[in-house]
Amino acid sequence: MEFSIRSGAPESAQTGCLVLGVYKGPDAMFEMTRATQLADRAAGVLQRVLTQGDLSCRLGSTLLLRAVEGIKADRVLLVGLGEKAKFGEAAYREAVRAATNVLKDIGAKHALLALCELKIGRRTSAWNVRHAVLSVRDALYRFDQLKSGKAPAAPALSHIALFVGTQPAGAQAQSALKEAIATADGVDLARTLGNLPSNHCTPTHLAEVAAKMAKDFKLGIEVLERKDLERLGMGSFLSVTRGSREAPKFIVLKHNGGAKKAKPVVLVGKGITFDTGGISLKPAGEMDEMKFDMSGAGSVLGVIRALAGMKARVNVIGLVPACENMPGGLATKPGDIVKALDGQTIEILNTDAEGRLILCDAIAYAKRFEPEAVVDIATLTGACVVALGHVASGLFANDQKLADRVLDAADDAWDRVWQLPLYDEYQEQLRSNFADMANIGGRPAGSVTAACFLSRFAKQLKWAHLDIAGTAWKSGRDKGSTGRPVPLLVRFALQYANR
Ligand code: BES
Ligand code: MN
Ligand code: ZN
Repeated sequence: MEFSIRSGAPESAQTGCLVLGVYKGPDAMFEMTRATQLADRAAGVLQRVLTQGDLSCRLGSTLLLRAVEGIKADRVLLVGLGEKAKFGEAAYREAVRAATNVLKDIGAKHALLALCELKIGRRTSAWNVRHAVLSVRDALYRFDQLKSGKAPAAPALSHIALFVGTQPAGAQAQSALKEAIATADGVDLARTLGNLPSNHCTPTHLAEVAAKMAKDFKLGIEVLERKDLERLGMGSFLSVTRGSREAPKFIVLKHNGGAKKAKPVVLVGKGITFDTGGISLKPAGEMDEMKFDMSGAGSVLGVIRALAGMKARVNVIGLVPACENMPGGLATKPGDIVKALDGQTIEILNTDAEGRLILCDAIAYAKRFEPEAVVDIATLTGACVVALGHVASGLFANDQKLADRVLDAADDAWDRVWQLPLYDEYQEQLRSNFADMANIGGRPAGSVTAACFLSRFAKQLKWAHLDIAGTAWKSGRDKGSTGRPVPLLVRFALQYANR
């Protein structure tokens, strides 16, 4: 799938399908988009179609026309944009997705998308370009590698030109395009790793994917094995691996695109390739979805893939502690006490609160890189799904400037997060009679106490934590990984570029 930027007169473009947006409203027929300042003849024909009410103009509604007089394209696809007053980021992305789905269905090969010129509040045209690419790629993503039978034909759609107006596109649009394509590649990688079941996506597989990426993009890589983890003293991480026969891996992947002396941003991704809960076994219902418990890890690999693909001038280190959480004869039992990398001791009261146990050692390990900032990404708590549902990821930070950077990136990437508190009062819930702390804090504020636990290992760092339990995948009919928060993390990392 290729993208390009186009300007000029849309009606004279040689393309399989010209996609035009139409607002809903009393004078819908005149309020197409700015891009559709078509020559009179073409505009007249389309306006007649609209007057007859063939298109509802509701957001995402579509109407396909053939051989429209005055328009050179073979077909014209009209996409409803809803009311102009309500048209915003979400509507724009939805319109692009709806158009892409039709293009996919009709088997179009080439299309010219005249939606990028729409004005969306304070957003720039570079924003529009980026989000058009990401929405198209989102709609085209497929995961069918594990279905048997004849491989389904690849989608015919091979080229989408993004129409940006009558003026020639500037360097900004081109660099937005490059960034967006690399980001979409990173999102696809994260989605595929998430969708792969745990018998395929093992810790070893994650390490192999990282190694392949390191080779392809000339990244630094190191994979720590069980014996290395023992030598280092990652007793907390190792306690989670005890019930499993799969070898744990601790992946260190480095994209050194920035200045030599520029401090790195460290991203830590929870890589539980399957979470049974361990001895504190989970109930059977929907347990299959715990294959997605490595989504934080997938997003870290995805963002590094994206940054490497766009040759971002920034230093980013990805840390991925990867293992399975299984019951077994040697598995950690409730009440067991372990010692983390930094020497703190933990009473494991619930073996299902395993994410924090692998992350705390990884966060402590991050200190050796003297990072500018550390962000961990984890499908950490069911409580976060209760609090924020499937719309926003939970954000926690011990530094408000860092939190604000994450919030800015989330807004720009339309990959939204909501900040929750890390007040000291919550720390009391982690008190233990037998160790420095317990690994759970009881029912109240489960996402906050999980973050409080992590904060104890991030004391000397500027650290933020993203709980993506509700946003990393979808359940039900559309079950599958979303690739979130790769778009957010890319924008976040780019804030540190060229310094
Ligand atoms: N991976 C889960 C969190 C999770 C659950 C994410 C459901 C998405 C959907 C995590 O390891 C876990 O089991 N957390 C426990 C913590 C509890 C034992 C304190 C939870 O949320 O129930
Ligand atoms: Mn768990
Ligand atoms: Zn888990």
